[in-house]
Amino acid sequence: MIVSEYNMDLMNPFKFRMPREVTFGSGCSRTAPEKVPLLGSKRPLFITGSHMAQSEHLVYLIERSSELGMSPGHWDNVEPEPPAELLEEAVGYIRKGSYDCLVAFGGGSSMDFTKMAAVMAENPEIKVSDMVGSEKIPRKGLPTIMIPTTSGSGSEVSAVAVFSFAEERMKKGVSSRFLVADIALVDPELTLDLPPHITAAAGMDALVHGVESFLSLGTNQFTQDLALIAISNIYSNLAECVLNGKNLKAREAQSYGSMIAGMAFSMSGTAGVHAMAYPLGGQYHVPHGEANTALLRWVMEYSLEGCEEKFIPIAKAMGVYTDRMSACDAANAALKAIVELGGKIGVKTRLREFGIPKEAAAEMAEAALKEVRLMSNNPRPLDFEAVKKIYENAW
Ligand SMILES: [Fe+2]
Repeated sequence: MIVSEYNMDLMNPFKFRMPREVTFGSGCSRTAPEKVPLLGSKRPLFITGSHMAQSEHLVYLIERSSELGMSPGHWDNVEPEPPAELLEEAVGYIRKGSYDCLVAFGGGSSMDFTKMAAVMAENPEIKVSDMVGSEKIPRKGLPTIMIPTTSGSGSEVSAVAVFSFAEERMKKGVSSRFLVADIALVDPELTLDLPPHITAAAGMDALVHGVESFLSLGTNQFTQDLALIAISNIYSNLAECVLNGKNLKAREAQSYGSMIAGMAFSMSGTAGVHAMAYPLGGQYHVPHGEANTALLRWVMEYSLEGCEEKFIPIAKAMGVYTDRMSACDAANAALKAIVELGGKIGVKTRLREFGIPKEAAAEMAEAALKEVRLMSNNPRPLDFEAVKKIYENAW
């Protein structure tokens, strides 16, 4: 139902990268200890946020690693929207303990952090600030295994990691082939206990990944196909995951959609929404998923002008009946459906709800425009006045 109609020229070349092994399915995370020796490692370090320390899943993984004759460790200091400065501390711990494999157990912050720590452990001569941007990492890092416990970031399969830089009050992304994990274990069961507000924010982040991947100038046939599968799964299941979190079928579909969206945007890039979300995170500490949600409608309203027909497959993927609609009406229907979903699951939609002053629009616009990697990917060009106006509209 999804492919065709929007087909681009299949002869356009494209590349695709993802972990060398991706396992998806409820319960699969329990196999992580058996994967460590397959990577040539025997001393895994589990990396998590502090709230994960008591997780029975994590306790099992550490105990099982010991049973298998390994000497596992646990570093539980990852902070949300992780500060780049914290990486040095983690790398020191890794070197001191001679850990030879890093296992992330957590959401996007823990996975981004772990991927970058693995790279830094093997690239001692280069600072994280020098790796910001695209393909600036000299060589591969320690082997990594990703176990996502939320459904949103797609970091388990992506080539991207994002950090907060306190001095500049800015979030910045690192994109590199060496940030693709070796193994991803996507276990929807781990998301069953996620509280509704985290499910909602992470889920909307994943939906934005799908939408921006499909529309971005860096997209290709393959990432577009993936993006539509992601949008379809996420749009159909996110509300159920938020309202009835124990529904495993819905959680599975959401985890699947989030993972596929990660595969899509990892190659196509995201665009204006993510670029404009970075200052909200860096300057006002708005969680990533919530920042994206607050901006999505306004960036899309701006972006659809002149490329309305690109929104038709997105509308169809969300089940909007578009047959008798003009491209413009279909685009607006798609947008309306996304906004209504956000309302249904209770995510904040106004910047003022995060305590951001309206006058901050100009400063945030300047900061967002520095995200050239993402800004240049937007389907309609964004300049200072356009970005400032979008922030004001979103206020
Ligand atoms: Fe994101």
